[in-house]
Amino acid sequence: MRSYLEVGVYRGTTFQQVMLPVRVAVDPQPRFDLTSLPPGARVFVGTSDEYFAAERETPYDVCFLDGLHHFDQTYRDLVHALTLCPRGAILVDDVVPSDETSALRDMAESQRRRSEQSDPCRDWHGDVFRLVPCLYDLHPELQFVTIADRDNPQLLLWKPDPDVPTVAHEGSKLNRYEQLEYRDVFADGIPAEFRPSDEQGGINRAIAAIGDRFRSIPAKPRRSP
Ligand SMILES: C[S@@+](CC[C@H](N)C(=O)[O-])C[C@H]1O[C@@H](n2cnc3c(N)ncnc32)[C@H](O)[C@@H]1O
Repeated sequence: MRSYLEVGVYRGTTFQQVMLPVRVAVDPQPRFDLTSLPPGARVFVGTSDEYFAAERETPYDVCFLDGLHHFDQTYRDLVHALTLCPRGAILVDDVVPSDETSALRDMAESQRRRSEQSDPCRDWHGDVFRLVPCLYDLHPELQFVTIADRDNPQLLLWKPDPDVPTVAHEGSKLNRYEQLEYRDVFADGIPAEFRPSDEQGGINRAIAAIGDRFRSIPAKPRRSP
């Protein structure tokens, strides 16, 4: 495993901890010093749509999608990321909001409600949660788990067969997921269709499915003349 893409990098906290030879971050407004990046690290200053329109070649082994926390944007980011990372693993942040206010699509509205209610919580996850039922229904070519034993659950997904293309759905197919409400999806906690898992169990499943793709093949011993 050697290459990593992070969509939405903010202060670079996660990005700086990933020790892979090739690291690329994408953010229209990164909030850290870009002038002294270590070798192999690069930051594309722009939106994820701009990045994926410009970049069609670089293959990635791991992607972390943590940009604009809207369902439609994250769905687009995922479909694009899968074209560059068909053999690897993709993590999607913020798939389980902490409450109804956190799940509002509009961040400003979420913050307005919190200050109106003197709510000290600042969480905003947006409507990324709508992605999971959508993938469950419309993308059988993907396998995923929701790593749910931590504060901020994340979706871990991969392709059992990297040669099966992921084609983006549009229009009315996606509209029904835009109608899903937090209270309906999470009325009884994290639903089974999210495939909740603890972290180690989720990682083990991914390694069992795709780990062989990243094991280096030992060089054949040379025959003596
Ligand atoms: C939650 S922060 C990312 C945190 C970071 N991944 C980490 O682990 O520290 C979200 C970031 O997404 C960026 N962002 C917002 N819209 C974006 C877009 N359309 N494309 C890429 N990044 C975007 C914001 O500027 C912000 O820095």
